[in-house]
Amino acid sequence: MYVKKLALKQYRNYEQLELSFDANVHLFIGDNAQGKTNILEALYVLAFAKSHRTSKDREWITWDQDFAKIEGVIEKKYGPVHLELLISAKGKKAKVNHLEQRKLSEYVGVLNVVMFAPEDLEIVKGSPQIRRRFLDMELGQISPSYLHALAQYHKLLSQRNALLKQWEKRKENRPVIEVFTEQMLAYAAKILLKRTGFIKNLQEWSSAIHQSITSGKEQLELRYVYSTPMDEGMKEQEIIEVLRQKFDKIREQEESRGTTLFGPHRDDLQFFINGMNVQTFGSQGQQRTTALSTKLAEIELIHSEIGEYPILLLDDVLSELDDHRRSHLLETIQGKIQTFVTNTSLEGLDQQIVNEATIYKVQQGKISPMKEG
Ligand SMILES: Nc1ncnc2c1ncn2[C@@H]1O[C@H](COP(=O)(O)OP(=O)(O)OP(=O)(O)O)[C@@H](O)[C@H]1O
Ligand SMILES: [Mg+2]
Repeated sequence: MYVKKLALKQYRNYEQLELSFDANVHLFIGDNAQGKTNILEALYVLAFAKSHRTSKDREWITWDQDFAKIEGVIEKKYGPVHLELLISAKGKKAKVNHLEQRKLSEYVGVLNVVMFAPEDLEIVKGSPQIRRRFLDMELGQISPSYLHALAQYHKLLSQRNALLKQWEKRKENRPVIEVFTEQMLAYAAKILLKRTGFIKNLQEWSSAIHQSITSGKEQLELRYVYSTPMDEGMKEQEIIEVLRQKFDKIREQEESRGTTLFGPHRDDLQFFINGMNVQTFGSQGQQRTTALSTKLAEIELIHSEIGEYPILLLDDVLSELDDHRRSHLLETIQGKIQTFVTNTSLEGLDQQIVNEATIYKVQQGKISPMKEG
């Protein structure tokens, strides 16, 4: 798939913008703070209805305005799809082919995106929360049923937490908490099964890619870390049963702490190279390669699940990678993946990319073409 058209209205520092793209590489060059990342963010938001930079959607709206709009035409195997996202004080409105979608889980997934930015190193180095977010976003874009289960789970979780918080004053709420627990377990089991299946697939791709980048020296492994121990290969009902027993056991602890202590919202993902935990013991270079292998694996995974390649967003990363890793990345893109790249200048970029790409100059929220692809 590829993005054929992008139109922005009052999005960050873009008052109005309309661009048409071919399926190849697009390079945005400009000084700091001119709007390069804003363009990639807009494409990301068009796909996920969420930003990679902020959870406050209102930040997308140009400061002195009261709404922002992103529109795109996505060329897919079976024809073009029109996407539209409107954000105002009233919230978000998402449309597919001009029809409003009540649930965001029915909007997300039309446009598939893999983004690679310097902060992605945090998927390896950062907190479990960042890794859960990574899992949720990536799985969400290929599985609407996952997104749905996740939304239901979080709704029940916050209701349950609210009741646990008032526990000392409202002990008569126990039966209500029990009802929430039971409903929550069903969604938790679905989430766990989806996540572990996803990681298994991702691991197959990423270990092959990682091996090839490291010339066979490093074996990468991804492991899902449960906050409640599970046996491998458990069925949905068995998972529910294990979780139920756990909740029975820790009931008093939860009541005195006033919050839900176990479940998918406390789980984690870990990376190992030749059996060593990369987060704790990996060198900077190993951590970078792990992040890159994981991102490249996502591209292949989406292709195998959806039957089309996602688009790729590379924000300020090309000049940061060494030659070896960069050539791996470029090999993956080669003529099959629409790619949007930002960089402050043309220097330090591969001649091949510069020759093939359509190049744009970004200056104070205005974009001017520099060279056709
Ligand atoms: N809601 C908004 N309304 C208007 N302008 C905004 C808004 N949000 C951000 N900006 C402006 O957008 C600019 C930042 O754009 P962006 O992050 O795309 O820069 P960049 O070109 O990627 O820079 P760098 O090379 O430093 O990464 C800043 O000048 C900021 O003031
Ligand atoms: Mg930037």
